[in-house]
Amino acid sequence: VTAQPRMRGDVAVLVPAAGLGTRLGPGAPKALRHLAGVPLLTYVLRRLVKAPSVGHVVVAAPVDGVDAVRAMVIDELPPQLPVDVVAGGPTRQESVAAALAAAPARFGIVLVHDAARAFAPPDLFERVASAVREAHEAVIPVLPVVDTIKRVDDAGHVVSTMRRTQLRVVQTPQGFRRAVLEAAHRCGPAADATDDAALVERLGVTVHCVVGSEAALKITRPVDLLIAEAMGLATDARQP
Ligand code: CTP
Ligand code: MG
Repeated sequence: VTAQPRMRGDVAVLVPAAGLGTRLGPGAPKALRHLAGVPLLTYVLRRLVKAPSVGHVVVAAPVDGVDAVRAMVIDELPPQLPVDVVAGGPTRQESVAAALAAAPARFGIVLVHDAARAFAPPDLFERVASAVREAHEAVIPVLPVVDTIKRVDDAGHVVSTMRRTQLRVVQTPQGFRRAVLEAAHRCGPAADATDDAALVERLGVTVHCVVGSEAALKITRPVDLLIAEAMGLATDARQP
C-alpha cells in the first residue's frame, strides 16, 4: 500500500440548497435569501473557492430556482472550479442523493455541506477533507454542548439527564469516502436521519469527529441572521 499524496482539488462538495426556509419566515428559498446584500449560497461558494482541496461542486437547487442558481454560480466560481447544478428533492436526503449522483466518479472524497451553514470557513472544509484523506471513512465537525440536555417522555416527564461531556453539537461539512456515502444512500431513506453521518452509522461505519467552527452556525430562524451579522461573518460585500 502506497501513501496517498496530498493532492489539490481531490474533493467534491455536495451542497443541499433546495430547502424552503420555512422557519426563516416568508420569502425566497433560504439559499437565495440575502444577508448584507449577498445571497446565502453566494457566501458558501466564495468560501469553497478558498478551500484548495475542493475540486468540484454540485449544488442541489430549489426546483423553481435551478436557473437562478446556475446564473449565481457562473458569476462566483472561477473556471478552475467546475460546478453542476441539479434540482433538489422533496427531502434533504433526496437532495443529497441527487447531488451525489451528479458528482464525477473520479472524486473519491465527498463532503456534504448545508447551504444553510453559509459562513463555514475554508479551513473547516480543509480540516474535514484532511481527516478523510489521511485516515477516516466518515468525518463530522462537532462543538461542545453548552446546555444541559434531558430525555423527556410524551407526558412531559424527565426520563434521564444525558452526561454533557459525552454530547456534541454536529455541523457540516461532513466528509466521506465516496463508496461509503453511496452505500449509505443505497440502503434507502431513513426518516429519523437528520444528517448524512446517521445514514453511514446504520452501516456500522465508525464516524470520526474533528473540531467544528462557531462560524458554521446554521441559519434557521430570523435571529440566526442577526447573530451571523453581529459575529462579523457577513462582510463579503464590503471586501475589495
Ligand atoms: N435541503 C434540501 N432539500 C430539501 C430540504 C432541505 O437541499 N428538500 C437543504 C436546505 O437547503 C439546507 C439544508 O438542507 O441547506 C438543511 O435544511 P434546513 O436548515 O432545514 O433548511 P430548510 O429546509 O430550507 O428550512 P426549513 O426547515 O425551515 O424549511
Ligand atoms: Mg428543513
